[in-house]
Amino acid sequence: MQTMNNDIETVLFSEADLQKRIDELGVELSRDYDGKNPLVIGILKGVVPFYAAMTLRITVPIQEDFMSISSYVGTHTTGRILLRKDLDGDVRGRHVLILEDVLDSGTTLTAVKQNLLERGAASVKICTLFDKPSGRKMDISADYVGFLAPDAFIVGFGLDYNEKYRNLPYVGVLKKEVYTK
Ligand code: IMP
Ligand code: MG
Repeated sequence: MQTMNNDIETVLFSEADLQKRIDELGVELSRDYDGKNPLVIGILKGVVPFYAAMTLRITVPIQEDFMSISSYVGTHTTGRILLRKDLDGDVRGRHVLILEDVLDSGTTLTAVKQNLLERGAASVKICTLFDKPSGRKMDISADYVGFLAPDAFIVGFGLDYNEKYRNLPYVGVLKKEVYTK
């Protein structure tokens, strides 16, 4: 059988590690957004597993919406942002919480955050499952961080390499031969 596991060099975060940290973030977010009825915006597609797991751990009422943005081809940023799918609803006056898979150069979230503020959001905060401070090119930080990630290309739990490995239930580093061949 074809298995994705053979392409993984090391497992960085197991399913249990991910769930434990998401549970902790759920407690924090539920407390911070109590009474605010936040609009929780997911950045597709990488956020899908995190979005599902994270929102199920928020105990206060929320609304859900999604945006799709592309900035990546292969393992390096193209520096370009493309809005592929916009929100369904209005953000004016709303407390917005952006959920993202990984904050790397910061190009994507800088553009998204600025755009949401321009549209009149009352507040915009960022919750990223992974933060790679070593990759940062923009002056932006997340308000909530799941894990600090090493300066390596990681896949799984939504994170892809050329649209593959998003459905790995854990997060790992891809073998170099996989993306150099
Ligand atoms: P940024 O705009 O450079 O901050 O990049 C954010 C986007 O780049 C994420 O939403 C991911 O799609 C992608 N990305 C950054 N680092 C990785 C990685 O290690 N693996 C997979 N995708 C990544
Ligand atoms: Mg991506």
